[in-house]
Amino acid sequence: MTKFYEMTPCERRQCLIREGILTENDANTLESDIALDDTVANNLIENQIGQFALPLGVARGLIVNGKKYDIPMVVEEPSVVAAANNGARIFALNGGTTAQSPAQHTVLAEIVFDTFPDGLNNTIHCLQQHHDDIITCAAQAKPSILQRGGGLRKITIDTPGRFIKIVLTIDVQAAMGANIANTIAEAVAHLCEQWVHSDALTAILTNLAPEPTIATVTLKTETLATKNIPGERIAQKIVALSELATCDIDRAVTHNKGIMNGITSAVLATGNDTRAVEAGAHCYAARNHQYYPLAQWDMTNNLLHGRLEIPLQVGIVGGAIRSLPTARIAQKIGRYHSVQTYQNILASLGLAQNLAALRALVGPGIQKGHMALQARNLALTAGAHGDEIALTVQKMQSTAKDLASAQQILQEIRAARTIPTV
Ligand code: MEV
Repeated sequence: MTKFYEMTPCERRQCLIREGILTENDANTLESDIALDDTVANNLIENQIGQFALPLGVARGLIVNGKKYDIPMVVEEPSVVAAANNGARIFALNGGTTAQSPAQHTVLAEIVFDTFPDGLNNTIHCLQQHHDDIITCAAQAKPSILQRGGGLRKITIDTPGRFIKIVLTIDVQAAMGANIANTIAEAVAHLCEQWVHSDALTAILTNLAPEPTIATVTLKTETLATKNIPGERIAQKIVALSELATCDIDRAVTHNKGIMNGITSAVLATGNDTRAVEAGAHCYAARNHQYYPLAQWDMTNNLLHGRLEIPLQVGIVGGAIRSLPTARIAQKIGRYHSVQTYQNILASLGLAQNLAALRALVGPGIQKGHMALQARNLALTAGAHGDEIALTVQKMQSTAKDLASAQQILQEIRAARTIPTV
């Protein structure tokens, strides 16, 4: 019998129909609701049965290191792109952000031994003796990265707990680097096993980028004013909210979620690995054994200063970028010509997103704007088409913002438009 993973997507859908998991209707939707070439989709992941589309938006006018950028964002949540735009607009009134990323884009890979028959010190000594052999092995394992000017830069040995850990610092050039680092780590691990007379426990990259990108901004408080609250008061409250996030992890996690609203959306748009960036970000937030806000705000002389630090394991070549046409367009829109530019933009976007969220929280609250955008989503879910969407949204201003209201309003709109027959 053909195994599920050996089937074509169509056969897999049929199999799920037979098992009562899908209806014919579901299968038809999965078959037709597609944006990617079938072959690309089926080869990108395993057990593929359909595709999953999300909207691609663009946040405009974020000034980073004196240059203006448009940032493509893929996200399902209403108000995220609007908030990014809003943050970018306020930053632009103040000259934008200054951002800096590590000059060399490196990934760390670790090879770990948990048993060493020759003893801890002898094993470490033996590995140190083989420094040059490790360099040669790494070069042979991935010659293409050498040709592109990268490769293994440093070897260090560490002893966390009862383990011996060889850390390889690998210059991955413009790639995200996971495949390069893992290929080199596995090849080096096999070689080390012979010297150490033991099997390596693991050989894998760490998703914590060795150095963070840092974005900073200075805002004149008057540029933060809302309809009812003066800018200085808003700035003071933003500082208080930022301080709260440093002593209350319940607030810190939501504060950071707001930052990742922007960063993850812009990472997803280019087909980069959002999980790697998220894991790295939260690890960095907890690096001092307490979970901290990634961005912090303080005030001096009527100026609000924001600073965001985040490790960003992303690339601009390789991986899914190559096979996803929309990711390539997103990269073009963003003008991500180097990894460092991309990282600087991502960190600045995170800071803008954070500012917009905090300003809304201390000002009008987020629900007003959020629910206005949510109404559009509800209108669509209720089945509104064309001008019915705007009409439903407009009528929802004075009703509960839920699906039942959207459905009721849509019914009324349609009933009013139906010419009665006699
Ligand atoms: C909502 O997606 C994000 C916020 O909750 C972030 C925050 O509270 O800082 C508004």
